Amino acid sequence: MSEPELPAGEPAIRVIAMPADANPNGDIFGGWLMAHMDLAGASAAQRRAHGRVATVSVASMSFHHPVHVGDEVSIYANIVGIGRTSIRIMVEAWRRVRSGEDRDRVTSATFVFVAIDEDRRPRPVDPT
Ligand SMILES: CC(C)(COP(=O)(O)OP(=O)(O)OC[C@H]1O[C@@H](n2cnc3c(N)ncnc32)[C@H](O)[C@@H]1OP(=O)(O)O)[C@@H](O)C(=O)NCCC(=O)NCCS
Repeated sequence: MSEPELPAGEPAIRVIAMPADANPNGDIFGGWLMAHMDLAGASAAQRRAHGRVATVSVASMSFHHPVHVGDEVSIYANIVGIGRTSIRIMVEAWRRVRSGEDRDRVTSATFVFVAIDEDRRPRPVDPT
């Protein structure tokens, strides 16, 4: 399989993996990464929806490489589809060992967010 390309643009989130985020072997929990991916995707979705959103689904999540304590993790969130009330976002997490320049794509998944009003009902997203 060919190497994936680093997404264009700035990451939505950049964070250093800390000991509290790891198991006793120093490998970072998948759930920690998923939480940050949800935050990154929600940030992009809220910006596009001009308001509150809820995560309605996560599809095709794959873990390609481990993350270790001390790695810098950058999470990219790019809109790949807009429905009537939903926004589909490709979220990718990339790691960089702090002392180097090599980057590996750690995880990728498609998140779907729904724009919601103050009563948590779906509301239309401006298509333009
Ligand atoms: C998000 C929520 C308000 C949507 O309500 P709903 O009654 O399912 O709304 P609808 O059936 O009208 O669907 C709304 C949109 O979501 C999409 N959608 C619903 N379920 C989906 C799923 N499982 N996967 C992908 N898209 C989905 C629909 O296709 C629709 O998109 P469109 O308007 O762009 O065509 C409701 O499901 C909800 O509150 N879920 C809990 C969200 C949450 O708490 N997330 C955090 C969990 S900790």
